[in-house]
Order: sequence, then C-alpha cells, then structure tokens
Amino acid sequence: MKQQEQWSSKLGFILSAAGSAIGLGAIWKFPYTAGQNGGGAFFLIFILFTLLLGLPLLLAEFSIGRTAQRNAVDSYRSIAPNTKWHWLGGLGMVTSFLLLSFYSVIGGWILIYLFKAITGDLTGLTSEEYAEVFGNTISDPFMSVFVQLLFILVTILVVSKGIRNGIERVSKFMMPALFVLFLVLVVRAVSLDGAMEGIRFILQPDFSKVTSSTILNALGQSFFTLSLGVSVMVTYSSYLSKSQSLPRSAVSIVGLNIFIVLLAGLAIFPAVFSFGLEPGSGPVLLFNVLPTVFSQMPGGILFFIAFIVLFLFAAWTSAFSMLEIVVSVLSKGNDAKRRKWAWIIGIGIFIVGIPSTLSYGVLADFTIFGKTVFDLADYAVSNVLLPLGSLLISIFVPLKMKKSDLYEELKHGSGLKRGLFETWYFLLRYVAPVLIFLVMLDVLGIY
Ligand code: PFF
Repeated sequence: MKQQEQWSSKLGFILSAAGSAIGLGAIWKFPYTAGQNGGGAFFLIFILFTLLLGLPLLLAEFSIGRTAQRNAVDSYRSIAPNTKWHWLGGLGMVTSFLLLSFYSVIGGWILIYLFKAITGDLTGLTSEEYAEVFGNTISDPFMSVFVQLLFILVTILVVSKGIRNGIERVSKFMMPALFVLFLVLVVRAVSLDGAMEGIRFILQPDFSKVTSSTILNALGQSFFTLSLGVSVMVTYSSYLSKSQSLPRSAVSIVGLNIFIVLLAGLAIFPAVFSFGLEPGSGPVLLFNVLPTVFSQMPGGILFFIAFIVLFLFAAWTSAFSMLEIVVSVLSKGNDAKRRKWAWIIGIGIFIVGIPSTLSYGVLADFTIFGKTVFDLADYAVSNVLLPLGSLLISIFVPLKMKKSDLYEELKHGSGLKRGLFETWYFLLRYVAPVLIFLVMLDVLGIY
C-alpha cells in the first residue's frame, strides 16, 4: 500500500481539524438555532452534549483513523475485515456530499456580501433595508447559483492540492486570524447600548423554553460543530503521526470550538437586541445583523470586510474536510486521481446543491414534509445523519477494537492516565449510544 501523506506538524493537524470543526456551524447556525430555541438553555445543553458526547466521540474517531491510517472506508475495513462496517465510511461520504451541497449555499451568500461590501452597497442603510437587500440578493437565481459555484471551485482547487500544500497551509494562516478578529467583534458588540439583554439571552438559561426539539437541536448542533459522525475526523487523524497525543489534540479542538461558539453568541445577540432584530429569524439572522453592527462604528466597513473574509475562510476550511473525505476514499493516495476526483465530486455536489440554493428564490414555495429543499437537507444531515453516524461509531469502537489496543493508541505521546481512559471508554460505550438513541427517537416522533 502506498504510504499516506502526513500533516507536517501537530499544530498543522490541530488547526486543520479545528478548521473543519469551526465554521458556519458556530458562526451562522448556532446563533439562529439558539435564537429559535430560547437562547441560554440551548447553549447550556449544547455544552453538556459537547463535553459528555462530543469529546468522547471525537476521540473515538481519532482512534479509528490513527490506528488504521487509511481513508474513511478502508479504515473500517482494515479494523473489521469481512464485515459490513465499511458502509459506515460510505455513510460518511454520502452525508458529506449532501452537507456540502447546502453548506456551499451559505458560502455563496458570504461571497455576495464580500462583493457588496467592497462595492459600497452595504453602507448607510437601516437594518430593514439591509434585510431587504439581502432578501433580494439571495432570491436572484443566477447570482446565487453563480456564487455557490465559485465557493465550490475554490474548495476543489485546495483539496486537489492535497494535505500539506492545500488544506494545512490555508488553515494555519486563517485560524489564528479568525480568533483575533472575533475578539474585536465581541468587544464592539458588548459595548453597544442595550447589549445586556443580548448577553442575558445567551448566558441566562430559561428552562421553561426547553422542549424535546430543543434537546434534539442541541445534540445536532454539537455534532455539527465538531464535524462528528461523518468520519471526517477519522480521515484527518489518519494523516497524523503516531508520536502525537490524540487526547490532547481532541481537548484543544473541543476547547477552541466551545470558545468560538461562545464568542459567536456574545457577538451576535447583543447586536440583535440592541437593534431590535428578531433572534428567531432563521438562517438569515447573521446576514442581517452584521452590516447593521458595522455600519454604526467608525471605520466599520473595513472591519466588516475583514470579517467577511474570515467567515469565508472559516466556511472554506470546513468545506475542505467535507470534500476531502470523499476524494481520499476514491483516490486512494494517488495524486493524479486526487485531482480528477476532486473535480468530479465537487461539480456533482454543486449540481445537487442547486435546488437548495433556489429554496430562497424560485423554489421557496416548494416544500417536502413542510420544509424547503434547503431546510430538509439541513435537517436530514444535522438531526438524522450526523447522530446516526455517531451512534454507529460509538458502537463500532468498543465492539471491534480491543480495549488494550485503544489504550495504547491513546497513550502515544501523552501518557494518558488509566482513570481518564476508563471514563472515556465508559462514556463512549454506555452513555453515548443510549443518549443518542433516546434523542433520536424524537425524530421519529415517539415522544
Ligand atoms: N463543523 C462544521 C461547521 O461547524 O461549520 C460543519 C461540518 C464539517 C460538519 C464537516 C460535518 C463535517 F463532516
């Protein structure tokens, strides 16, 4: 078998995996989902799920990937030969494909914002006017399909360059910049008049708002922001050398992720309340809030442009991982095949994504199960496929991997304490499957 390419350093791995995790999930999806699910209580349940299930599952995906050092499908195949478990890698490929098909719609919206900000179309309007400009832009079928294509083309170009020269190089540069500028945005947002109401909204839990769908959404959000259940993290960790510590990497990634989600809440909600916007206004929330915040600060437009660029990078580093998992399975370490498959799959995703794009325009009234194509794809991925993939992974690891081997794998480079290992194993083997299963019954309408 051809030796797989590897990350050049541990930092490169952490920033790329954090780049996959931190993306539109934290910046765009979290604020509006929290807005629709009562704010603080949702945030708290999200953190609980992230620590209790997300972290153990992330570590489970890491241990599969680094043990096998192969692509998503072959990893399961090499650990459990002559079984059907490699279908779990196949499930990840399908999920990723579908996910990128609607993720790229939002990527396209960000591109539109960038053009509009640079050409001066997004200055000096009221928040209603911003909402109107935005509504008109995303309902334009040609424009929105065009920018979606642009977003996917860049993703294809980077993934076709491979791990070190593509994904790692871009992630190492943009993730640190994202943290710094995010802090600036938060400082600005919390100093707005009336910011307190927004801070309270996201930090003060009101449990009277919690329903079973709040819990399901918090679980979906937690898996979504950590890129779990898709075997993306299996793929990324397969490129990591044996000398690096998996538990430390997982803790860093989860920590960074929670931190960014918190910052996103603190950046968005003060502004939402201060400008009298509607927290439950759905996927358009971020796009209506941002220009309003920036247009009222000195030098705002420059900050605004810097932010859009960073959001774009955050979205791209996640998109790379979605395309990477599919391409790595199909190209099997061959560079020429990597380029070919990156193009074929990327264009396929673009075509499948067109109806999602049009959901905000000509297909707005076309619904299936009461949802537009975009909402249905998002629901299927976040609330069904990611929890299902994670459930199967939590069954696979204890069932097919020897406990002593797992301990060895997790101990490399970290000297992991036995007690912590046992806690992880317990959470993974008993708590994760039961909790995920119970929450998922809600999708079937059992409660
Ligand atoms: N974690 C990404 C985000 O929060 O935007 C989304 C994601 C990427 C989910 C890759 C799943 C995945 F496999």
